[in-house]
Amino acid sequence: MATKDKLRVGVLVSGRGSNLQAIIDANEAGKLDAAVVVVVSDVKDAYALERARRHRIAPAFVDPKAHASREAFNEAMAAVLTEHQVGLVCLAGYMRVLSAGFIHRFRHRIMNIHPALLPSFPGLHVQGKSLHHGVKFSGCTVHFADEGVDTGPIIIQAIVPVFDDDTEDTLSARILKYEHQIYPRAIQLYAEGRLEVRGRRVFCKGSDSERPIKEGWRYIHP
Ligand code: GRF
Repeated sequence: MATKDKLRVGVLVSGRGSNLQAIIDANEAGKLDAAVVVVVSDVKDAYALERARRHRIAPAFVDPKAHASREAFNEAMAAVLTEHQVGLVCLAGYMRVLSAGFIHRFRHRIMNIHPALLPSFPGLHVQGKSLHHGVKFSGCTVHFADEGVDTGPIIIQAIVPVFDDDTEDTLSARILKYEHQIYPRAIQLYAEGRLEVRGRRVFCKGSDSERPIKEGWRYIHP
């Protein structure tokens, strides 16, 4: 598909941007009918902005301190996204809560990735909480963002095992590898128009629900 015909994606970041990189790489490998056209950060020196520059994607820093309220700050971000004619907003390590106005404006057009099997362990310090609780499986989730923290309709999940000798770092690394698979996959399903939201549930048209992708112990579905 020609770049001009692709779904235009804006990515919101606060940090290193490895998920952003996975999305860019999937597009450059010809696996995505979607292209990142702008990367918006609330942190001036976020490494994700450098990744954008390297791939000739517009970088944008929107300074939260330059705005009187979260609403005004989110309005400024929305203006950047609108200016770039973004059709889908992807949160990738973006560390702030979005205003209700922003969510409303892009309803079911904002995705987020979270390093746990939601609704378990929303919020921060996810791997510490998962290990402390003693779960035997964890994973990652891509979902549509709503007004809550990590509460929106779930699009896709991947499962990984938790081992006795895991630390927060080893578990994070195992999960991150699958984040990098499921985020581009969710975006591609969206770009193909295959995701249908009905209440809390997201149905994926044309997927064989009897056949999640299995890799060893690890599952990705849909
Ligand atoms: C990822 O673990 C993601 O699930 C969470 O924040 C982290 C961002 O990592 N929301 P990166 O910036 O994409 O490398």
